[in-house]
Amino acid sequence: MSEVKCIGILTSGGDAPGMNAAIRAVTRSAIYHGLQVKGIYRGYKGLVTGEIKEFKSQNVSNIIQQGGTILKTARCKEFRTPEGRKLAYENMKKEGIDALIVIGGDGSLTGALQFAKEFDVPCIGLPGTIDNDLYGTDSTIGYDTALNTILDCVDKIRDTATSHERLFFVEVMGRDAGFLALNSAIAGGCEAAIIPEFATEVDQLEEFIKNGFRKSKNSSIVIVAESELTGGAMHYAERVKNEYPQYDVRVTILGHLQRGGSPTAHDRILASRLGAAAIDALLEGQRNVMVGIKNDQVVYVPFSRAIKYEKNIDRQLVDVLRNLSI
Ligand code: F6P
Repeated sequence: MSEVKCIGILTSGGDAPGMNAAIRAVTRSAIYHGLQVKGIYRGYKGLVTGEIKEFKSQNVSNIIQQGGTILKTARCKEFRTPEGRKLAYENMKKEGIDALIVIGGDGSLTGALQFAKEFDVPCIGLPGTIDNDLYGTDSTIGYDTALNTILDCVDKIRDTATSHERLFFVEVMGRDAGFLALNSAIAGGCEAAIIPEFATEVDQLEEFIKNGFRKSKNSSIVIVAESELTGGAMHYAERVKNEYPQYDVRVTILGHLQRGGSPTAHDRILASRLGAAAIDALLEGQRNVMVGIKNDQVVYVPFSRAIKYEKNIDRQLVDVLRNLSI
């Protein structure tokens, strides 16, 4: 196994608050251990086009508190082709990069796995996505910040919902995962969460109405996870308008504001620990693993597991939400 002397770092897929803290941690840890660092811009696209710049410690000063990613991000079509990946490999070699650190979600780690298989490049992944849908880590970088952003919005919606005695459907992100929806519903004291994990099992709207919706309340907020499986908040609002016209219904779709903002302390600490752990993993000879934190311990999760295994929703949380919303 050849010694790693120079790492390339990139952020890919949807940005997430805390990615900058992760870039800082990886860069500084690598420099601390005597490695050279190159920042790759716009995710895999920068690897394909050669948008690469050497990073010193000062390049990552004053970014731990910033949302977004200073390296920019993109979803890159070229990297999905063998020709694109070949170009990426050639650029890597030209720049003297001998290992890659990829910060992103499942699409980004899938790209890293494919690349590592084809070119025998050591890759280490950091889970960076607000969706929290990567197996093998309790939390992904950005999830806690997004959750708190949603909560802030829900608290504000509650004021107007209560004043007007309305039923609100609030749509949150998560792609096909219900972590943001379920946990923001619990934290926001909401009446229900409609999540993709149960969309085919039960009619969650029926359940919610059956469970005594509005018995003793003068406002109700239902969080709906965006997903083809749930159909989104508009779908449920339409259904209520048709099936229960007595309710005054409104919809709020939170959209991309959930991805912005300064990362919470939790996300900064998570990103810092994972960034340092990524360099430790490389130096220990680990290859093609995602670093995660499980029960407060750093773990290395093979890419194939992180991507393919499903991270399950804890059914106890569903019960907690239902039992507390009486
Ligand atoms: O994966 C993060 C995420 O914000 C998802 O929750 C959402 O479905 C998607 O990205 C939106 O992607 P885009 O920014 O490309 O619209």
